[in-house]
Amino acid sequence: MDWSPDIPFNDLPPLPPAGTDLEPKRVLKATIDARTALATLSQAGQLLPNANILIHAVPLLEAQASSEIENIVTTADELFKHADSGGGDHATKETLRYRSALFAGVDAIRDRPLTATTATRICSALQGREMAVRTVPGTRIANPVTRQVVYAPPEGADLIRDKLAAWERFIHAEDDLDPLVRMAVAHYQFEAIHPFHDGNGRTGRVINILMLIEAGLLRDPILYLSRAIIDRKNDYYRLLRAVTADDAWIDWILYMLEAVRESAMSTIRKIDSIRICQDNIAELARAATPGGRDAQFLAVLFEQPYCRINIVAERCDVSRQTASAWLHALVEAGLLSDVRMGRDALFVNDEFLNVLTRPE
Ligand SMILES: Nc1ncnc2c1ncn2[C@@H]1O[C@H](COP(=O)(O)OP(=O)(O)OP(=O)(O)O)[C@@H](O)[C@H]1O
Ligand SMILES: [Mg+2]
Repeated sequence: MDWSPDIPFNDLPPLPPAGTDLEPKRVLKATIDARTALATLSQAGQLLPNANILIHAVPLLEAQASSEIENIVTTADELFKHADSGGGDHATKETLRYRSALFAGVDAIRDRPLTATTATRICSALQGREMAVRTVPGTRIANPVTRQVVYAPPEGADLIRDKLAAWERFIHAEDDLDPLVRMAVAHYQFEAIHPFHDGNGRTGRVINILMLIEAGLLRDPILYLSRAIIDRKNDYYRLLRAVTADDAWIDWILYMLEAVRESAMSTIRKIDSIRICQDNIAELARAATPGGRDAQFLAVLFEQPYCRINIVAERCDVSRQTASAWLHALVEAGLLSDVRMGRDALFVNDEFLNVLTRPE
């Protein structure tokens, strides 16, 4: 194929790639393993008494990992602390926007199929301003370490829109391609089109999750997929490029399938740890305060590791005094610690925070 890393790749071929069997036996075997892990994850998620825990925490962790690939680095601790307010420093705000973008995408596909318009909306939510396909030439992808230019995406807004339209048709093509293989192949294509000036990697990684939900393989965005990608970031860059340079589709697909399997397994391990932590704390809380017998109170303590008096009062329908007494009793018992943020008192469930943020 005629391709050079510094010439805009306007001849990027449409999907599916001609003359390539995307599902040789190795790939089919790997899809089975990945699907089994996803099915186990769904079951494990249902075993948690309160599914909000996962829907709250995992997208935040996913946002952190996915943003870190772009070197937007913030700690999970900061993220959870500012999760409600949307505040924090620049990196924290940007990462919180990633979570909003993910939720916006999930909402969008509940009503209508995933399209190029969905992608634009995700990218806009991510960047915090209206995004549209690139009109200015000169975008280059460089190796993040060596800074060497590795790829020049296609140029010309009309051409980009055409390629996105073809990408969109492929996503919903009525062939019998495995949905996980489709996700892998579509992710390459989206990145190779590179429709926006910035945010293409993160938008593409949100879309991965949406494709799994659309395929019915995931109900909620509780897969921590970008962690698996960032853990093998060099392979991610190398294999994307090898598709362009050498048609190395199978290596790329296997890489993505393994990332799905691995992230499903690590999310399952996290769910197990959360359950153990929840049981421990519930038992100790019952002994420490009447609030410990309030199911809503225990639920609130495990939705977010940082908790405010107001939230407890609202959710449990008790006075601020009662909410405050319950929370302080848990501080006395050593189950929570209290910190100040501005004028607000925050109560931290340290053990839960630790379970959420440690690697599984
Ligand atoms: N050789 C390549 N061919 C196609 N796409 C690539 C290649 N190398 C990297 N990419 C993609 O480009 C993304 C970076 O593009 P961009 O800066 O627009 O996205 P981002 O979301 O801001 O950054 P990041 O993905 O690093 O968080 C990478 O994450 C990867 O998905
Ligand atoms: Mg970028």
